[in-house]
Amino acid sequence: MIALTSTSIAWLLFAVILGGWVVYAFLNIRQSRDELGSEIELAANRKKYYDDEELEGPRLTRVLGIGVILLVIMVIGLPLYWILEPARQAGAEEAKDEIFVEWGSQLFATTADGGFNCAGCHGGMNGAGGEAPYNLTDPATGEVRAVNWKAPAVNTIFYRFDEDEVRFILVYGRPFSPMSPWGLEGGGPMNSQQIDTLIAYMKSIQVERENCGVGEDDPKTCPSGNLPADTQSDIDTLALQSVEDGTYASYGEALYNLELASGAYSCARCHTQGWSWGDPGQPGQGAFGWNLTGGAVNAHFPNEAEMVDFIRNGSVFGQKYGIQGQGSGRMPGFGAMLTDEQIQAIVEYVRTL
Ligand code: HEC
Ligand code: HEC
Repeated sequence: MIALTSTSIAWLLFAVILGGWVVYAFLNIRQSRDELGSEIELAANRKKYYDDEELEGPRLTRVLGIGVILLVIMVIGLPLYWILEPARQAGAEEAKDEIFVEWGSQLFATTADGGFNCAGCHGGMNGAGGEAPYNLTDPATGEVRAVNWKAPAVNTIFYRFDEDEVRFILVYGRPFSPMSPWGLEGGGPMNSQQIDTLIAYMKSIQVERENCGVGEDDPKTCPSGNLPADTQSDIDTLALQSVEDGTYASYGEALYNLELASGAYSCARCHTQGWSWGDPGQPGQGAFGWNLTGGAVNAHFPNEAEMVDFIRNGSVFGQKYGIQGQGSGRMPGFGAMLTDEQIQAIVEYVRTL
């Protein structure tokens, strides 16, 4: 707002100064025209100059007066500029954020709306989860099969990943899936500013969190907030239902495979091959995420509590986890998505695989 005001003031000053110069030039040109043909009489160096009376009287006062006025402008103007500058910068920053969200939304839009179709695969402009047609090639037979690959909701992406991790996903995509790389470094079409605008847009569509901490004033990204209670109870309802109807043997297994929001809340999407296109193989056999079967994962986490912590926080690039594990930042954290009981149930299931 302030930024806009100062811009208008600057334009006004510019207009006044420009107007002044035009008037000055106009008067000057007229004056010189009058003098045409009388050069000798009127040559500047032969003109009679002001006498002492005039020079040290009103003229001196006038020139000094102008000097004082300019000085006053500087004395007031510079501190005023200094006072307004931080607000102007904050205003500019805010205006930039709004512009980035707007640009990001244009990129996120469907192809029909001139965008790069994030909305087309991820379930519309609010990114609530969808699916994408994809052709799978069987590595053994070379046979090609058309499937629909679940495209997880991105309106909770900042619940699971931090900004750098999301940037990595956007730049390099998930090259084994319909999610192609979008950044130049990954071989995609977008420069780093375009990726930044997509991140700004995705921040603006996050599901608002509950229980933000003191001083955390953005419910879309506040670090200590979590998923609204009604969504967490939807998750429960769905999981308990699928245990009741016999689809899964336990609450933990049902959560591990949860179908909600195209798998944004589930583990199977990354740890069970075929789950994303509705043809799951052996649970936890390993896909994008490590193999969780055969006891190897328990050897990595002899301590159940440590595994719970890992699921809650996800992996952090370069940092140690479990025994001799080093994170890549690609395993999401579920602490803000699922309740402690839900995570506990999943861990108990995973440890039986
Ligand atoms: C052709 C369909 C398609 C398009 C277009 C597409 N995506 Fe994706 N995206 C997917 C699929 C499918 C996945 C999940 C891949 C997997 O199984 O790991 C995914 C994964 C993601 C993820 C990671 C989600 C997670 O929780 O693991 C993000 C973030 C994402 N996409 C953002 C975008 C953005 C932003 C755009 C637009 C520039 C975009 N996608 C365009 C299909 C698409
Ligand atoms: C977006 C994909 C993705 C999702 C979803 C995901 N994981 Fe992972 N997971 C990974 C990746 C990738 C790793 C490997 C660690 C790394 O790269 O940092 C991993 C590692 C792990 C490990 C450590 C395995 C080992 O032996 O070192 C465990 C345990 C695990 N995941 C459990 C889960 C559980 C439980 C869930 C669901 C609550 C889940 N994961 C959801 C991608 C995923």
